[in-house]
Amino acid sequence: MSSIQNSLLVNFSEMSEKDIVDVLAIEQESYGYPWSEKIFYDCINNNYLCRVLTLDDNLIGYLISSLVQDECHIMNLCVKKEYRNFGYGKLILNELHKELFELKCKIIFLECRPSNNSALKLYQSLGYNEIGKRRNYYPAPNGYEDAIILAKDIKK
Ligand SMILES: CC(C)(COP(=O)(O)OP(=O)(O)OC[C@H]1O[C@@H](n2cnc3c(N)ncnc32)[C@H](O)[C@@H]1OP(=O)(O)O)[C@@H](O)C(=O)NCCC(=O)NCCS
Repeated sequence: MSSIQNSLLVNFSEMSEKDIVDVLAIEQESYGYPWSEKIFYDCINNNYLCRVLTLDDNLIGYLISSLVQDECHIMNLCVKKEYRNFGYGKLILNELHKELFELKCKIIFLECRPSNNSALKLYQSLGYNEIGKRRNYYPAPNGYEDAIILAKDIKK
């Protein structure tokens, strides 16, 4: 995908190893428990669906997911702090949904912290529904936090 929005060139494309420096900087400013550099290398080299969103060649967001048969699992979605609330998270997910539809994927799963209101609102606005919980899934300052499991039927 490539389009001009407000005279910025917006591009959604495959993540490559050369993107990892920028991805890691966003990851580290965004999460209390960020993924390591090695995890991103492993995802790229093990055929996960790894995508980046750039504005005028400036990397401002990314998504990591895996597709096994007709099920997708989103493992990481992140937008650079100063670019949040401009619709880029939604754009990344909508681009993924289009790709998955072409790939005959039927359902998408993801986990989210119950405390992550902005992410939950985003997912719910795009048709993801809560289907369960995973107890003590995420590390947290006082131990562990549960995860909400969300799912979206890709055919709709
Ligand atoms: C979650 C995240 C990816 C959202 O990206 P974003 O680009 O800010 O989201 P968008 O601007 O596309 O927002 C889309 C919708 O999400 C909701 N939303 C996003 N941020 C919100 C906020 N701070 N408060 C309330 N709703 C919010 C709104 O419903 C919004 O729809 P609207 O603009 O029609 O009202 C971003 O906040 C982020 O990178 N957070 C840190 C990493 C993270 O938590 N990732 C998710 C892990 S599960």
